[in-house]
Amino acid sequence: MSRIIMGIESSCDETGVGLVRLAANGTVELLADEVASSVDQHARFGGVVPEVASRAHLEAMVPTVRRAFATAGLSMSAVDAVAVTAGPGLAGALLVGVSAAKAYAAALDVPLYGVNHLAGHIAVDTLQHGPLPEPCLALLVSGGHTQLLRVDDIAGKITEIGSTVDDAAGEAYDKVARLLDLPYPGGPPIDKAAREGDPNAIAFPRGMTGPRDAKFDFSFSGLKTAVARWVEAAQARGEEVPVPDVAASFQEAVADVLTAKAVRAATESGIGTLVISGGVAANSRLSGLAADRCAEAGIELRVPRPRLCTDNGAMIAALGAHVVAAGCAPSPLHLSANPALPV
Ligand code: KG4
Ligand code: ZN
Repeated sequence: MSRIIMGIESSCDETGVGLVRLAANGTVELLADEVASSVDQHARFGGVVPEVASRAHLEAMVPTVRRAFATAGLSMSAVDAVAVTAGPGLAGALLVGVSAAKAYAAALDVPLYGVNHLAGHIAVDTLQHGPLPEPCLALLVSGGHTQLLRVDDIAGKITEIGSTVDDAAGEAYDKVARLLDLPYPGGPPIDKAAREGDPNAIAFPRGMTGPRDAKFDFSFSGLKTAVARWVEAAQARGEEVPVPDVAASFQEAVADVLTAKAVRAATESGIGTLVISGGVAANSRLSGLAADRCAEAGIELRVPRPRLCTDNGAMIAALGAHVVAAGCAPSPLHLSANPALPV
């Protein structure tokens, strides 16, 4: 007997609703993945404004749920369980999704599962590449997070082995884009500009790679400051800032540190699979360098397609399906959002 799981995501600026089918043999099939983004409303502020995001979720939630059922050609009564992002994320934004999920679960009389957003970014890979080999290692790189996670059980046991001590990788992209007068969010325009530039033009620092630094932690704020100083110095000399070279050199520094640490972590712990997910996983240089270094080290690399890497409801539905399949206990209807939910 197969089961239909609805997933609701609202931790940041994307209202996501996903529907998946969990087959009796444990395979998970994507039926619908609808996203309404408020990113345009945040662009002029250069970052997500929590209050604006919460209001946008309120407006988008019900229409997005309806679109998901229409796309899947299902009626709501087909749903067997509702999964929702309980954290981490913005408190007000999370609460909109949690409240909606409770209402749907109660009205449809089906179990509710509050799940972790970060685990969702990893679970989404199973929609494209099938069951995850466990243990595996996950490099999660987004606007809010930069973490190396060891996954022993996607439905229950995930351990953080490294994280950023300051800015997230995506945040660094967004801040550097601002320095270069490129639009928000900064990842895609930097990725594009970098294609015309020389990645070795400027030797930007590789944070946290000294002998006394924590092995698997990351730091991007020094890199961001180095780019700012470099740009200021060029302007002070009256020179035009070579945007493609700065973008390519910055991007190279980020990709170098992320892939070097991830591959080293996998090699040292004897883990044969690396999953890279989150918005920054869409970066062409990051996936290219990771592919080269993983091939060299004999590690299988899995990178979900860009649409699955950014925030969406399918990742929460997929994780919900794995949690249901594992027989985990549902959450109580008084489930609350936890902005700082640990993985
Ligand atoms: O996962 P995501 O959609 O939302 C968060 O949970 O943060 O990630 C958004 C982040 C933004 O910082 C954006 O600049 C970055 O992902 N990003 C990229 C690329 N596409 C999106 N960074 C580098 N290269 C890209 N191609
Ligand atoms: Zn995310």
